Amino acid sequence: MMATSAVAAERQGRIFACTSKTEKECLDKMLFATGRLYGEGVLAIKKGDPLFLMNLDTDILYGTFTADSAGKKNIEPKAWAGRYPYQVRVATLNGKILSVKGAKKVLAQMCLGWREALPPAAAKALSNYLENPDGKLESFEHEKEDEKPRLESTTLWDYPRQSYGKTPKGSNKYAGVTPAFAIYNMIKRYTEPGDLVLDPMAGSGTTLDVCIEEGRHYKAFDISPIRQEIVQNDARNIPLADESVDMVFIDSPYGDNINYNNQPGNIGKISAETEEFYDELEKVMIECHRVMKPGKIIGWVIGDQWVHKKFTAVGFRVYERLCRHFETVDIICLARRGQTSNTGVWHNRALRFNFYLRGFKYLFIMRKANKNVLQDKKKKIRWTQYTRGINHSTNN
Ligand SMILES: C[S@@+](CC[C@H](N)C(=O)[O-])C[C@H]1O[C@@H](n2cnc3c(N)ncnc32)[C@H](O)[C@@H]1O
Repeated sequence: MMATSAVAAERQGRIFACTSKTEKECLDKMLFATGRLYGEGVLAIKKGDPLFLMNLDTDILYGTFTADSAGKKNIEPKAWAGRYPYQVRVATLNGKILSVKGAKKVLAQMCLGWREALPPAAAKALSNYLENPDGKLESFEHEKEDEKPRLESTTLWDYPRQSYGKTPKGSNKYAGVTPAFAIYNMIKRYTEPGDLVLDPMAGSGTTLDVCIEEGRHYKAFDISPIRQEIVQNDARNIPLADESVDMVFIDSPYGDNINYNNQPGNIGKISAETEEFYDELEKVMIECHRVMKPGKIIGWVIGDQWVHKKFTAVGFRVYERLCRHFETVDIICLARRGQTSNTGVWHNRALRFNFYLRGFKYLFIMRKANKNVLQDKKKKIRWTQYTRGINHSTNN
């Protein structure tokens, strides 16, 4: 018998991923879970939604389950040693758990991904396939609701344009606007829904637009605000309480290369060739540090300068100041594409006069130390020594 009528109509489905280590706990507890990165998808689950479980090691898909609770945080805080706090209670749909091998191939044939919500028709079709694996596989056109950026897994972030999705984030007419993709990645990695994000130099408001869409609270300031959501303020004196902010994102001036405004206090009027520029930015760093909760993250975007045949390593100098106050998490290379010098004329000049156009900016990801957390005991690293030319592929 087909289970077509058993999957509730118009219910989105979701596939949870597990490994051979975590599968047993999922099925014993009838609790599915994920970490922060995919947590928001879990919070959207309603009781009765169809669910599936996919073991990424064995490539087996189990189903069909239904959500026996809404998706919540920490239904069982101690499950999986607290590593997967976004959880949902599950029940079997027909009192049995079916399974199919070759899950990745099945999903590929149906044009489905396990990270995204399954449209109702796809959830139903997948449930039917588990009941009858000899049946025909349907494939599903992706309904593009609203494009979301890819979550980055390397330190090279390269975006073809400034914004994504249906609503603009910030304004690409604003000189020095930040790629919204980068802010999205920072928010997804380092905050949770409902957290407070601060941008003390908000410019056209890219950070606040990303925050609104992702369900984060924001505080946005600028020395010369151009939108009503942004409050006029000098970043060297932030009107927020100590230890009140969950993340800071800041794309500061890189020197006096852009004429943002003529407001007194605009740090973008100070040349990056002077010590004063770094002294003033360090005051901003100290204020950010004060308002951040311990253990939280600041992302700082900055670029180098090449003006009048002179190179200034602005990024290294800002990084050196950041290191006086924060621990380094990582350094991201943000490819620059949209700048005004990205034209044939300038590329020609760079070759003719033997200099380079700026091709990237830095995104320094730094953490405010959390003195309450004991440092992990130093683990011995076991490096794998590879030799070039030898194929190390596994059986996969
Ligand atoms: C690179 S832009 C920020 C771009 C912004 N992230 C966006 O996406 O539109 C730098 C901003 O710093 C602001 N700024 C300069 N000095 C400041 C200060 N002392 N306090 C606050 N904002 C300042 C400028 O007005 C400018 O809007």
